Amino acid sequence: MNVMLSTGKRIPVEMHKVRIVQQTRLVPIRRRLEAVTEAGYNTFLLRTKDVFLDMLTDSGTNAMSDNQLAAMMVSDDAYAGSESFYKLADAVKDVLGFSYTMPVHQGRAAEHLLAKVFVKPGDAVVMNYHFTTTKAHFELAGATVLELYTDEALNTQSTNPFRGNLDLRKFKEAIEKYGAARIQLVRMEATTNLIGGQPFSIKNLREVKALAAEHGIPLVFDGSLISENAYFIKEREPEYANWSIAEIVREMMSVVDIFYLSARKSASVRGGMIATNNKEYYDRLLAWLPVYEGFATYGGMSTKEIEAMAVGLREMTDVNVAGASPQLIEYFVGRLLENGIPVVTPPGGLACHLDAKRFVPHLPQSEYPAGALAAAIYLASGIRSMERGTISMDRDASGNEVYADLELARLAVPRRVYTMSHIEYAVDRLTWLYRHASLVKGLRFVEEPKVLRFFFGRLEAVDDWGAKLAGAFETELGPE
Ligand SMILES: Cc1ncc(COP(=O)(O)O)c(C=O)c1O
Repeated sequence: MNVMLSTGKRIPVEMHKVRIVQQTRLVPIRRRLEAVTEAGYNTFLLRTKDVFLDMLTDSGTNAMSDNQLAAMMVSDDAYAGSESFYKLADAVKDVLGFSYTMPVHQGRAAEHLLAKVFVKPGDAVVMNYHFTTTKAHFELAGATVLELYTDEALNTQSTNPFRGNLDLRKFKEAIEKYGAARIQLVRMEATTNLIGGQPFSIKNLREVKALAAEHGIPLVFDGSLISENAYFIKEREPEYANWSIAEIVREMMSVVDIFYLSARKSASVRGGMIATNNKEYYDRLLAWLPVYEGFATYGGMSTKEIEAMAVGLREMTDVNVAGASPQLIEYFVGRLLENGIPVVTPPGGLACHLDAKRFVPHLPQSEYPAGALAAAIYLASGIRSMERGTISMDRDASGNEVYADLELARLAVPRRVYTMSHIEYAVDRLTWLYRHASLVKGLRFVEEPKVLRFFFGRLEAVDDWGAKLAGAFETELGPE
């Protein structure tokens, strides 16, 4: 909850208390240099023993509630007909309003099934923005992914509250160009992960639905961060200021044909699911579920996690749960702006994103500025962030680089995990790094996988800049 202090300053105050803790440690800069070198300057390849604050992702890294943990103790491990599944189905019905629920092992498994069932080579799918795994699945199934974001979406210094909106004019043009029969679905991602966790408005969602329905195109909703999108609607779309998160969620769902999510985010568990009220869609998807995931009542998830998901879905509609991460991110972004650091605005739903094109403007995209910045952040702080730029794009069929629209280093803020002093530490080290940004040079691949190369690719630092940055750090700030 944002509380106003007697000084007039507003701060995010945690509406939960810490009952279980996990120890973390800050290894010295010399070890950080070794670790990042061993990891091929790819933060995915760091070991957590070398990481102080793990801000790689908010996926599966959130603090679970006492009620979620308690629910895990009473799970029903039956292969078929598990009572745990029925608790999940009830929660889906109550919170989202869907009658058919299908657990899957995580979000990309839902995308795999949707791509398999809905598209064939030559088809197109429309999105407000892609996510890495979404794009990979639809393209592997032979579809063209059309990202019809608004012009404002890529402005990293925006004040537009809904940069995740889909551009209706571009959607109409796409229907004219491809023909509605080839566009198998329109997917709205709440909130758009790769452009900074930016939400869309209910107004936009309704307009997208109206146009899609006119042409018989199903609306698919990626609700991985549904509670954060709902929170932003409450905060930023005046008509909904007095609505509860639960009411906003139901309002969004009233126009959705197929819902899916990675439950690793808003729902704070490790799993995923697809839900719909359309029996025909359900049956088509269900046919493939046992082939790729598991029986209808567990779908590749542990029943413990299914129990926790049922609780997590209900809890995410509490405004203090939905707002926990956005409020800390808002504080984080505000503090960085005070220090003149180039950070993406407005603050988004899952992370604080640094704009690498402005942080290290001397680096061309061919030298992967966002990847270099993520490695430099680790060196300067022990904080693990994630590259969300050109390394996160794969080369085209001819082997040419596909330059990302944005070069971002993402510092995720997992729900209910970090505190204000962690954020202040991050602000201090990022400010130091910004003052020394000229020491950060580019990266080049030494091992480059063809698909989703950001996960396992290994790189090296041009001109051994990591050692120079570490040297400057040690001289000014000492061993840690
Ligand atoms: C918006 C969105 N969709 C889909 C996924 C894929 O989900 P998972 O990582 O559970 O496979 C993610 C993961 O980060 C995501 O952010």
